[in-house]
Amino acid sequence: MAAYADPDIQRWHCRSLDDGEAPQLIDEWRQAWAAGTGASWAVVDPGGGLLGRVGLREVDLAGGLAELAYWVLPTARRRGVAVAAVRTLSRWAFDQVGLQRLELVHSTANQASCGVAGAAGFPFEGTLRGCVEHTDGWHDMHLHARIRTDADPGPA
Ligand SMILES: CC(C)(COP(=O)(O)OP(=O)(O)OC[C@H]1O[C@@H](n2cnc3c(N)ncnc32)[C@H](O)[C@@H]1OP(=O)(O)O)[C@@H](O)C(=O)NCCC(=O)NCCS
Repeated sequence: MAAYADPDIQRWHCRSLDDGEAPQLIDEWRQAWAAGTGASWAVVDPGGGLLGRVGLREVDLAGGLAELAYWVLPTARRRGVAVAAVRTLSRWAFDQVGLQRLELVHSTANQASCGVAGAAGFPFEGTLRGCVEHTDGWHDMHLHARIRTDADPGPA
């Protein structure tokens, strides 16, 4: 609830949460794991405090594909949390799950997410024009991707 009260998370994830929607969203994450179509983790500090969320969506186990998603709480930003989480999840997805390709898509207006993609070893592949509708209209999206044979950028 606190995370989705943040204006940046609302803006870039195109949603907010009321009391009823929060359990529903968490339940959707559980169902996606059970169906093999998604996977979500809390990113926590050593004491167990929440820092953010990282996950896979649009998972296609047969095709070896998935898309990364993430947010970090405002109080935990600019400390490398997103890059560390994306690198860790990518290694798991390639080495343990055996996926072939991970995509990372963000609005061309979201410079912070573009920085995360670059630092996490996801090269820019192109621009998807008018691809996702936000509250202020349709946004062009940057597509970044990493395939399993790309050099690992190493631990964050
Ligand atoms: C995008 C977001 C996840 C970044 O999380 P973070 O933990 O602060 O990111 P990191 O500390 O790992 O930053 C990695 C790099 O990204 C870039 N970056 C991060 N935040 C930035 C900002 N506000 N402005 C410009 N560049 C930024 C920088 O290049 C940074 O490296 P540096 O700190 O060495 O300069 C966070 O700002 C967030 O949750 N934003 C709202 C939700 C969102 O945009 N989700 C992604 C949707 S695609």
